[in-house]
Amino acid sequence: MDKSKYIIPENLMPPAWYNIQADIPVPVPPVINPGTGQPITPADLEPIFPMPLIEQEVSQERWLEIPSAVQAIYQQWRPSPLYRARRLEKALDTPAKIYYKYEGVSPAGSHKPNTAIPQAYYNKISGIKRLTTETGAGQWGSSLALAGSFFDLDIEVYMVKVSYHQKPYRRAFMESFGAKVFPSPSGETNAGRSILEKHPESTGSLGIAISEAVEKAVQSPDTKYALGSVLNHVLLHQTVIGLEALTQLEMAADYPDIIVGCTGGGSNFAGIAFPFLGKQLRGEEKAIKFVAVEPAACPTLTKGKYAYDFGDTAQLTPLVKMHTLGSGFVPLGIHAGGLRYHGMAPLLSHILELGFIEPKAYAQLGCFAAGITFAQAEGILPAPEANHAVKGAIDEALRCKEEGVSKTILFNLCGHGNFDMQAYIDYQAGKLQDYEYSPEEIAMALAGLPVVAG
Ligand SMILES: Cc1ncc(COP(=O)(O)O)c(C=O)c1O
Repeated sequence: MDKSKYIIPENLMPPAWYNIQADIPVPVPPVINPGTGQPITPADLEPIFPMPLIEQEVSQERWLEIPSAVQAIYQQWRPSPLYRARRLEKALDTPAKIYYKYEGVSPAGSHKPNTAIPQAYYNKISGIKRLTTETGAGQWGSSLALAGSFFDLDIEVYMVKVSYHQKPYRRAFMESFGAKVFPSPSGETNAGRSILEKHPESTGSLGIAISEAVEKAVQSPDTKYALGSVLNHVLLHQTVIGLEALTQLEMAADYPDIIVGCTGGGSNFAGIAFPFLGKQLRGEEKAIKFVAVEPAACPTLTKGKYAYDFGDTAQLTPLVKMHTLGSGFVPLGIHAGGLRYHGMAPLLSHILELGFIEPKAYAQLGCFAAGITFAQAEGILPAPEANHAVKGAIDEALRCKEEGVSKTILFNLCGHGNFDMQAYIDYQAGKLQDYEYSPEEIAMALAGLPVVAG
């Protein structure tokens, strides 16, 4: 019988996360304190994050052990399955072999608990009582809400207003785990109030929601902030995805030629790609084509500038060097709420600059069409964010067909779309449209970038 999924037992779960900083040929540019213009120190980050996460943020160690308390919770859904998409291959009539790692099996329905659980754990052991955060699609807020309930932490979520209204079930999910949820911009913070004064109709953005959550965190010593993407430690936690996939592909006696993932802040893409890229950098395996797919409505990697910028709209965070559209950029209200972030992970941005990944931008209609093709073949309805990866993988498979070559494609199906039915209703009703920004609009968005020496 042809195998359709590769499952590894719990006792073969990766014992450590993989830190690509140990293997990249050029170090990542430092994070800058906007007050001093100098690289930040761990003490600068302490009002926002607990020390164990700050240590992970700057670590150069290749392997960082996964604590047993985190492993015990990971075990609830990990290792996640690796599927061979045989029916999709057939539907596309492609000679390519397509594999996907399915992260929708987590309790929140995406890859986000892979970092929510350790972030809650490290805050708990550091004596923290409350975490604040932002959420776009609601996947990250749901993940932190459930992590907070496992580790008995209060969770406060600022949810981008457009998503808050598009996804009432996500809010109900978070509240079921005891989290408090506010539509952002909200009247709870100075950042939210000042945006509402200027733009009472603001639909919000991840940048604004981050400002609100950071502002609340720095006000109390027992409260810290948790971020669902972008930072080095978040990408680190997500490497369990790629590490498991390595073992599973070994079981399939295969190795990818192409790896595809969607990119909002970069964490699920890094999670699947970095363990493979690490092997390539250490000369242990062949080079792979890594394809990072973003929405045309938020084209950070393809049209953004590689520059120092703030991580949030109110400019409360340190300055990081990343591909950015400017911290004031408010992307149009596409349904892939998790991909509406103005910046990209500094680590991923740096790796793009080094030439190891190929970015692509797709408009949403084609992504939804790809998601439906995938669902009808494989039976899983992807999250709107994940549809970008599905489209990227399908395009690669169709190219194989055109060229008459068989390549092995691996993509990350980072979440299911079972809470995203409004998006599918709007798509089927023909209510969605494609957006693309003109060079003038991008230039305007970038005009306010901070000036940083070097
Ligand atoms: C299902 C899903 N995929 C992708 C993303 C984008 O984040 P990242 O690029 O960090 O994986 C999100 C973010 O909320 C998400 O919910």
